[in-house]
Amino acid sequence: MSCTCVVGLQWGDEAKGKIVDLIGGDHDFVVRYNGGNNAGHTVVWGDRIFKLSLLPTGTLNPNVTSVIGNGVVVYPPQFLKEVDALAAGGISVGKNLAVSDHAHVIFPYHMAEESATEKTDSSIGTTGRGIGPCYQDKFGRTGGIRLGELLHPKHLRERLQSIVPRKNRVIRALAGDAGGVKEFDADQVCDEYLGYAERLRPHVQDTAYLLNDGLKAGKRILFEAAQGSLLDVDHGTYPYVTSSHSLPSGIWSGSGVPAKHLTRIIGVVKAYTTRVGRGPFPTELADGPEGIGERIRKIGREYGTVTGRPRRVGWFDAVASRYTAMLSGADEITVMLLDVLSGLDELRICVAYELDGQRRTTFPSDAFVLERCTPVYETLPGWKEDLTKVRKAADLPVAARKYVERISELIALPVSVVSVGPDRAQTIMLQGK
Ligand code: GDP
Ligand code: IMO
Ligand code: MG
Repeated sequence: MSCTCVVGLQWGDEAKGKIVDLIGGDHDFVVRYNGGNNAGHTVVWGDRIFKLSLLPTGTLNPNVTSVIGNGVVVYPPQFLKEVDALAAGGISVGKNLAVSDHAHVIFPYHMAEESATEKTDSSIGTTGRGIGPCYQDKFGRTGGIRLGELLHPKHLRERLQSIVPRKNRVIRALAGDAGGVKEFDADQVCDEYLGYAERLRPHVQDTAYLLNDGLKAGKRILFEAAQGSLLDVDHGTYPYVTSSHSLPSGIWSGSGVPAKHLTRIIGVVKAYTTRVGRGPFPTELADGPEGIGERIRKIGREYGTVTGRPRRVGWFDAVASRYTAMLSGADEITVMLLDVLSGLDELRICVAYELDGQRRTTFPSDAFVLERCTPVYETLPGWKEDLTKVRKAADLPVAARKYVERISELIALPVSVVSVGPDRAQTIMLQGK
């Protein structure tokens, strides 16, 4: 039995989508287990670019069954939009896409609730997709609606008639004097969602059985994490995190596949660090429009896939990635976007933090502590050469090879892949797959 997980070891956008696309074809299922359409996973095949927020990256491969597990929160219009966009691009999605009937549903009032909260002084800098409020309703139990419930019109209407008036009161209260909030009408919301339900129906099933039956039949599963481990609700930089378990610990609860089946965990890191939204970021390069941060942002096209926000950019943080490698149980790492660093005289890697005059190599995940940490850097020589056409490790400039080796040493894991461009072909396989 073979279950692999691809997980990001930073704050997201590590290029998980590229790795899932590269190895997805060796699996029978590709499964999302957390998050929703706050994710943005990009895959590039020559001149074709695919951006998926909700559907697993495996959906691009017709020989793979893609599964949206119960731990995901589903916004039906986004599901249908992505299915339609793939169909328009010649990728038809039918029986090879399954979505859990246990997955919770995002409604427009979740986005309104989030928008009102984000206008208060408790802003997280979210993607505005209603992710947090939907998970709040799931765990609060009284206000959550699961995808399976959409297939029962009378039941759905009754639930919405009970929930929507309450939501209207909550949103009004959150908005306070600012006002300007929209009132939701339960019947209108219900009619809209019953329309989506008809198109969703063929895909909805209890995917825990699908996956466990698959395992019994010897099928191979690839789990695709959304977000990065530093955004994990338990182990990330709380409260500046997302509302789900992006670490592989989310797999068991978010898919129904017991953790004992996991055989390989691939940790994905960028050769530097990025972060979108608020929260501490010790190695951030806030060095102005002529600075290295802006240069990396431009060359790496570091703008959010979902919201288009400029991503915050910084040096590689080995303290943070060693912490997430430990928590995720990663067996290996893939180092992505190495090409972006070409042309810099020197590169820095954060090897420790200083806090209150003390050096530490452990990661404090409380945001209020982390923001007081200053990075201790090691400086390495840079390289001038363009890496985007390199296909073998031996052809990398010595300084680039040494940089990757140092990351590997600091995280204490082997590097299996180095990526030197967005395209599938721009990949250097070092060992294994
Ligand atoms: P994900 O959320 O982890 O799947 O990552 P995103 O897709 O949001 O962000 C990664 C971005 O980097 C995408 O635009 C990819 O096309 C791009 N990318 C992936 N690998 C490389 C690489 O090695 N070099 C460069 N320059 N871009 C890359
Ligand atoms: P992928 O899968 C980067 C960030 C948001 C915000 C915080 C909470 O593409 O790596 P949320 O909308 O989830 O409540 O926002 O999490 N965030 C991401 N940052 N990549 C992502 O996904 C993200 N998903 C959420 O910017 O700081
Ligand atoms: Mg992304």
